[in-house]
Amino acid sequence: MPKVRPTSLRGTSRERWATKLGLVLALAGNAIGLGNFLRFPRQAALNGGGAFLIPYFICLLAIGIPLMWVECSIGRFGGRHGRGHTASMFDLLWRHPAAKFIGALGLFIPFTICCYYAYVTSWCLAFSFFSATGAYFDLDTPAEIGRFLAGFQGSERNEYFSGLAPAYLFFAVTFVVNIAILLGGVARGIERLALFAMPLLFVFAVVLVVRVLTLDPPPGGGPDQTVLSGLGFVWNPDFSALRKPSVWLAAAGQIFFTLSVGWGIIHTYASYIGPDDDVALTGLATASLNEVAEVVLGGTIALTASVVFFGVVASHEIAAAGSFDLGFQTMPLVLEQLPGGRVFGTLWFGLLFFAGLTSAVALLQPLIAMLREDFGLPRPRAVLLTGVLLFVGTQPVIFFLQHGFLDQLDFWAGSFGLLVFGFLEILIFTRILGIESGWREITHGARITVPRVFRFVIAWVTPLGLGAILLSWTATELVPALSLDGLTAEDRPYVLGSWAMMVALLGGFCVAIHYGLRRRTRNGAGDDT
Ligand code: ALA
Repeated sequence: MPKVRPTSLRGTSRERWATKLGLVLALAGNAIGLGNFLRFPRQAALNGGGAFLIPYFICLLAIGIPLMWVECSIGRFGGRHGRGHTASMFDLLWRHPAAKFIGALGLFIPFTICCYYAYVTSWCLAFSFFSATGAYFDLDTPAEIGRFLAGFQGSERNEYFSGLAPAYLFFAVTFVVNIAILLGGVARGIERLALFAMPLLFVFAVVLVVRVLTLDPPPGGGPDQTVLSGLGFVWNPDFSALRKPSVWLAAAGQIFFTLSVGWGIIHTYASYIGPDDDVALTGLATASLNEVAEVVLGGTIALTASVVFFGVVASHEIAAAGSFDLGFQTMPLVLEQLPGGRVFGTLWFGLLFFAGLTSAVALLQPLIAMLREDFGLPRPRAVLLTGVLLFVGTQPVIFFLQHGFLDQLDFWAGSFGLLVFGFLEILIFTRILGIESGWREITHGARITVPRVFRFVIAWVTPLGLGAILLSWTATELVPALSLDGLTAEDRPYVLGSWAMMVALLGGFCVAIHYGLRRRTRNGAGDDT
């Protein structure tokens, strides 16, 4: 890594994770989120079931784990110099005017995603409450549950909900909990949350897996409505799917989303690691915990339950209908038929809530780091300002949900943005910094021997693979999205409005970064906070 000029210490020491376990659980909490339990089963169901796991694991080894190591080592390097967000880290790695603006993506992406992620997390809290109180337990058909969900989300007024007030209330609670945790700081807020929430999440998930694996087929169910068919649906490989580019794109997208690589968050979390502490084992442990939660637990619960109660064909259709249908429509129908359904429903949505919460706090930390380090704001003011921005950014998602606002943010920031950022950062790491220095940084202080083949993978396979994915994605997804294909005239203004919001956010971050880094240099505060 490049030499950095000596810096003036200002008497304040940089925040650090208190324990190694806390660090790994916080990183895992950041990675394990709604994506593991809602997005993964849907992607697997839509992309050939077991066949999906082949490109998925290839992408994990060729892109996911390498990027995890790259981001952890860039983050630790940044932290060594008092830099906790990607704009200032890239500025240090590559003394080029463009570097900080590429790094701006690492602030824009997590903040924009948080504008919808925090809201969806609040639905999980709401549905945990609805499960405990049995609010949806006498709704027997997908159509009825669908109307319950639509009423809750404010897409329609009906006999279940006459407006958005309940959704707003649960959002307000989730928002306040998020802010309260962040006010506690890295070790006393985020780490404590992870130490409490992650074990609980795994316990809830294991209880649910055991319950799902012991499900009896419903009376009158078809021959495919068994636990074994459900497991086969996820695990039986079909090698012919490897020929479809769309399956590869979906697998790569899922790896980016689930590991939270290409977001800018891992860099921030890793910046609170000690300068000589391991990142190799930490990164691998994080990825492994995430994969257990995703493939073993996330892949078993919702899909297997769906196959047992509705069969393989219907499960395909449910998955195709939308990201949230499996979690918020199918699962309630399953849960209400189970003995002890209220308890299992509370656990399922409680699990989703903890998964979402531990990721949502991570999404806001890069911005907090920027406000603290570059603008010198004390933590409470940095957190509160971040909270105000988040609150404002979430409003259009809440009120224009039915017009596709959330989907647009998810598409541009949560899919395209990740690929672009991941591609640019691997180029900076391998081509600007150079694989020699990069490899030294990854292996510095390592508590495992990182197989040397990964040096080649990081230098060649990851950048070339990402370049190919980005090109293919641009051709198949980006061009139709830009032409507003398939949108109704009513939805178009909202979609254009969401684009305007994203452009304003990205522009705003670029301006803030420009002035923040100038201020930092002028004050000579530079490399320590
Ligand atoms: N990686 C997190 C998830 O899967 C954000 O939801």
